[in-house]
Amino acid sequence: MKLAVVGGGSTYTPELIDGFARLRDTLPLTEIALIDPDERRVSLVAGMARRMLARAGHPAVVRAHTGVEEGVAGAQAVLLQLRVGGQAAREVDETLPLDCGCVGQETVGAGGLAKALRTVPVVLDIAAAAAEHAPDAWIVDFTNPVGIVTKALLDAGHRAIGLCNVAIGFQRRFAKRLGVAPERLSLGHIGLNHLTWERSVHLDGADVLPALLAEHGQDIADEVGLPVELLRRLGAVPSYYLRYFYEHDRVVEEQRTKPSRAAEVAAMESALLEIYADPASDTKPELLEKRGGAFYSEAAVALIASLLGDRGDAQVVNVRNGTTLPFLPPEAVIEVPAVVTGDGAIPLPVAPVEPLYAGLIAHVSAYESLALDAALHGGVGRVEDALLANPLIGQASLSADLAARLVAANAAHLPWA
Ligand code: G6P
Ligand code: MN
Ligand code: MN
Repeated sequence: MKLAVVGGGSTYTPELIDGFARLRDTLPLTEIALIDPDERRVSLVAGMARRMLARAGHPAVVRAHTGVEEGVAGAQAVLLQLRVGGQAAREVDETLPLDCGCVGQETVGAGGLAKALRTVPVVLDIAAAAAEHAPDAWIVDFTNPVGIVTKALLDAGHRAIGLCNVAIGFQRRFAKRLGVAPERLSLGHIGLNHLTWERSVHLDGADVLPALLAEHGQDIADEVGLPVELLRRLGAVPSYYLRYFYEHDRVVEEQRTKPSRAAEVAAMESALLEIYADPASDTKPELLEKRGGAFYSEAAVALIASLLGDRGDAQVVNVRNGTTLPFLPPEAVIEVPAVVTGDGAIPLPVAPVEPLYAGLIAHVSAYESLALDAALHGGVGRVEDALLANPLIGQASLSADLAARLVAANAAHLPWA
């Protein structure tokens, strides 16, 4: 089984390889194609990947490619984990909105929109190449903003599914607290990518979320950066990304006093690349744990194994809404538990969503469709509309100002600017 990884020169790749080595019975790979335009970087990461697999006794061959066509040829699955413009572009996403008093983050608010504008055209080109050279392949998108990028892929007719590690992270951490195997827990996870709430946590049929909040409320609240009183009152656990909404002004203040995440990650990337260049290193470095991608490999292995092996188990993925959340259009992309077979993912039914969550979900979903429109068709006016529809921006002069600035700052990555 051949898997192609676009953005294979990412410092995250050894995280993936570690999962492939541990979970080889679930996903019997014979070839891993790492694809990246940066030749030096992809060959360095490929060397590290080969040593890791050799150490684990895994038989897969690893090939490094700079061209998408040759890299994806014959693949059964194509995993997208690229970052257009690298950490330098991310730095702009995280700092430019701050100048206007808005949160600086690469997946939500104005930064998330800038990332969508840069990313959608590139991903659609890659998907077109995959459709031609690996027509039966599933495209698994980990590239942010996952909701918007997945919708772009589905609207263009691709066999795509979006993936994020937030849900699997909750499942694994809750299981650890409860002292049970993670597979025994199923999450009542609802919303959009990076806009989700855990409304229940079922252990062998019984909801243990109230007990988790009673016993570990403070620790869970600290993990997601929100007040424990809020979690207890909601009886739900918002993801870490809800902090950018529920604590917006506080986050802005914090961001003004500390280095950007992009700067931190850039420093980690240099250190990681040095480790990968060392011919003696053959295990996943501890430093990688400081990145946000914990359990990414396990989520990716489980998803690809179910898509290719028609397993029919439930996993949290990004899929078309259909009739799952009746207050959203059917074509919207949502993040919920879904049954995954060889035909794709079908969302499991969701209990009626409280107005407290439904309002924000609908608001952000409408923003996402306008953001995609701007990414596909360009134009400062469309960018301004998307900002006006974003609950973290929403004001007229602010939207106009930010639209002009973010288009100017990203012009090198925008075909239309
Ligand atoms: C989590 C999110 C990803 C995001 C990552 C950022 O894993 O689910 O979507 O890309 O964090 O991590 P980083 O180490 O780059 O800040
Ligand atoms: Mn994510
Ligand atoms: Mn230009």
